[in-house]
Amino acid sequence: MITIKSEREIGTMARAGRIVFETLSLMREIVKAGMSTEDLDREAEKFIRSHPGATPSFKGLYDYPKTLCTSIDEEIVHGIPSAKRVLREGQIVSVDVGVCIDGLHADAAVTIPVGVITPEVQRLLDVTERSLHAGIAAALAGNHVGDIGHAVQKVAEAGGYGVVRELVGHGIGTRFHEEPQIPNFGTPRRGAQLKLGMTLAIEPMITMGAYATHTLKDKWTVVTQDASLAAHFEHTVAITATGPRILTQ
Ligand code: MF3
Ligand code: CO
Repeated sequence: MITIKSEREIGTMARAGRIVFETLSLMREIVKAGMSTEDLDREAEKFIRSHPGATPSFKGLYDYPKTLCTSIDEEIVHGIPSAKRVLREGQIVSVDVGVCIDGLHADAAVTIPVGVITPEVQRLLDVTERSLHAGIAAALAGNHVGDIGHAVQKVAEAGGYGVVRELVGHGIGTRFHEEPQIPNFGTPRRGAQLKLGMTLAIEPMITMGAYATHTLKDKWTVVTQDASLAAHFEHTVAITATGPRILTQ
């Protein structure tokens, strides 16, 4: 079942989304070579809990142990923060975070350069972020889930990149993962129809090489099979009468 949120619920999700956005802004400020992903996680959790009523959505979800997912280079998503993972100059790190307020969630991710990265890698980040915004622009009442995926896929593949198939975006609300699934590929007019009041987490995962994935022995970290670099950007979006409203900015 795809749930429709009231304006009040969307307002609460926007409050959670603002904290998500501010957490990711803080991460952009502090990411630096020599820092561990555990350091990032500690700062993020402290920042989220400094807001009365706000809790990290991921911690405890499916027994996930941390506030953030931190995925470096060929890691696509669900990297677990660790003191042993120290960031090095020239890497990229996807930071994904969810916040819950009054029982409602918001979810977003950005991929952050560690110091100076090459123009080739910067282009991967730029195209992935552009593909996210193309997907968001298709999140209109009357459109279909396939319109979002198609819009993302067109931008990513025109850039020469791979679109990960095995992981998808999702509805979000009182539960962190709700229906519908939002693939980052698709056919226009196919899939569930989008309606006013739906709230969706749209999250392209785009690779420099092939799109096939592999999950590491930690049972969480998803990497590219060919070890090519991957980028991940995500926003939580509400479908409103005036168009898509990004709740995580
Ligand atoms: N941000 C991830 C997603 O979009 C959620 C991580 S699942 C968790 O679906 F269990 F790691 F929290
Ligand atoms: Co998500």
